[in-house]
Amino acid sequence: MSAVLESRHRLRPMNPDDLERISRIELASYDHPWSLGNFRDSLHAGYSAWVREADGGVIGYYVMMVAAGEAHLLNLTIAPSWRRHGLGRDLLEHCLDRAREHHADMMFLEVRVSNTAAIALYHSSGFIDLAVRQAYYPAREGREDALIMKREL
Ligand SMILES: CC(C)(COP(=O)(O)OP(=O)(O)OC[C@H]1O[C@@H](n2cnc3c(N)ncnc32)[C@H](O)[C@@H]1OP(=O)(O)O)[C@@H](O)C(=O)NCCC(=O)NCCS
Repeated sequence: MSAVLESRHRLRPMNPDDLERISRIELASYDHPWSLGNFRDSLHAGYSAWVREADGGVIGYYVMMVAAGEAHLLNLTIAPSWRRHGLGRDLLEHCLDRAREHHADMMFLEVRVSNTAAIALYHSSGFIDLAVRQAYYPAREGREDALIMKREL
């Protein structure tokens, strides 16, 4: 296990006090970040939302919805300075375990076709390509396709 995955880093459910810090990570991570409202709505809806902490602060998080035996990964983000240490894969594994606990037998997600880092993570974690949704996302210029991926649990 790498040094950053050691025990001083912990996972716990997301709460409203985390959202200011999470907003800053969103802004640093996406051209079209989730708003505070998107996170608040997810918490109110009871979605599975977890954060990873390190040195007393949030450094990563995910949000997942489970309904009718299907899990949908809605957001998975690691703060820029903490990337490439296995934390994204670790959070994804945690998310897959929570989905199984909620009796989902399939997980779906959508990712920008340009997001090579995330696509590599998902492929190497057992996700397969399901379909491409044309012009699904707003982009800096025009729109961008979404790759829909799925994984059996
Ligand atoms: C995608 C993201 C969560 C990965 O987190 P991370 O902690 O850096 O990922 P890990 O260190 O666990 O890497 C896991 C695998 O992802 C892939 N990967 C991660 N970063 C990569 C990069 N920059 N280029 C290519 N592959 C990459 C690799 O396959 C890697 O496995 P390896 O280390 O054995 O090569 C992170 O880059 C991120 O937060 N990006 C911005 C937000 C985002 O795009 N989220 C996904 C939305 S669908």
